[in-house]
Amino acid sequence: MPNLLAHTSCLGIAMSERDAYTQDHANRVEVLSHQLGIKCGLSSHELKLLSCAAKLHDVGKIGIPDQILFKPGKFETHEWEVMKTHSELGQRICESIAHEQAGKVALIVRHHHENFDGCGYPDRLSGENIPICSRIIAVVDSYDAMRTTRPYHVAHTYQQTMEALENDNGKKIDPTVYKYFRSIISSVEAMGSRG
Ligand SMILES: [Fe+2]
Repeated sequence: MPNLLAHTSCLGIAMSERDAYTQDHANRVEVLSHQLGIKCGLSSHELKLLSCAAKLHDVGKIGIPDQILFKPGKFETHEWEVMKTHSELGQRICESIAHEQAGKVALIVRHHHENFDGCGYPDRLSGENIPICSRIIAVVDSYDAMRTTRPYHVAHTYQQTMEALENDNGKKIDPTVYKYFRSIISSVEAMGSRG
């Protein structure tokens, strides 16, 4: 799979120009997803797809209007519906990457907000019908979002974040993926600078 990451990096830069926070978040999600993917036993081919999809999982936010993307408070229902379209927008953007594996990356991006119990979006897929790479990104995405301070919430502590993920285990997130996540995250935290 020559240079799939090189093909995708310009989209990451474009996202960064639109919203630096979102792309910084995506870059952290890529690093941690790759570590989790190894723990989950993914092949090297799957790991490459995972890295690209993790880096671009929120690239569809390029198409979300400023008043929603940068809204500091809670979304109204209609705003939330618009925000949720970012996974399908992201799929369309990724499908345009000039690479034979682009469709696979695009599908992972489409499904990164599906929930293990079938209550996610856009297709309400459940369990192993959700691509494994999407299930991995979903755990890491939740974790990083909670550990980061945003205009509308203060960063959760490590303890608070793990309690929230525990509560989502088997509902929003895949219990098998979460088991592997738990086995690596304390050492990842110990190496980082988060409090
Ligand atoms: Fe997202």
